[in-house]
Amino acid sequence: MRVIFLGPPGVGKGTQAEFIAKKYHIPKLSTGDLLRESVDRKTALGKKAKGFMERGELVPDDVVIGLVEEKLASPECQNGFLLDGFPRTVTQADKLSGFLEKMGESLDHVVYFSLPRTDIVKRISGRRSCPECKAVYHLESIPPKRDGVCDVCGMALIQRNDDKPETIESRLAVYQEQTEPLIKYYKHRGILSELDGSGLVAAVQERLLVLLSQPR
Ligand code: AP5
Repeated sequence: MRVIFLGPPGVGKGTQAEFIAKKYHIPKLSTGDLLRESVDRKTALGKKAKGFMERGELVPDDVVIGLVEEKLASPECQNGFLLDGFPRTVTQADKLSGFLEKMGESLDHVVYFSLPRTDIVKRISGRRSCPECKAVYHLESIPPKRDGVCDVCGMALIQRNDDKPETIESRLAVYQEQTEPLIKYYKHRGILSELDGSGLVAAVQERLLVLLSQPR
């Protein structure tokens, strides 16, 4: 299966991507995770991306496209993949479509996660994650067993730099301006399905499984 998860920041794409990638035995390619890893490792790419990410802006297309194409060409992606957070601009979507065409492949689903803005802000501002094993929690809806401590590896949880209130607004504006046009882009190609992202994680998961099991 070749699938894209599209939607605003904090809507729950990453949470569901973990589950779907395991369920369908496909690699999850999250450009946000890949970029954060590069920033942590202080690689040349990470140094380029850091400022953009901290300001809540998109990292330039050429940087992200190079990163994704390298991954998609690798053997682990030959039988499918889940793209979480890519593409995010029309240029990225065009490049992806050219790449897949060249490989003789096509997308099975583009899932657009929708959620009211107030819920999005609540999800982002309550998010805490583990700097070591990358597990993601939420202060209210998915709290760790011990306050501020990762259930999996015992590390102290952190708040992402770009999850601070001042950056949330700019991420949402960037999403609206640069990524929202992809809804029309994929609708026009007949491969977009909208998923109601509200409710408990398990409820969203159930709706998602039904959606992915249907031929588009
Ligand atoms: P990225 O990491 O991709 O961030 P994002 O798209 O803004 O998405 P998030 O990770 O914020 O949210 P999510 O939808 O995965 O939600 P989650 O499941 O964590 O990108 C970060 C930055 O990298 C960008 O700003 C940009 O600079 C750069 N970048 C990345 N890709 C790029 C690209 N293609 N081009 C250019 N730049 C790029 O859930 C959120 C919270 O809600 C969590 O706390 C979770 O526990 C909780 N939650 C989840 N589901 C539920 C539920 N059903 N009920 C209650 N709580 C829930």
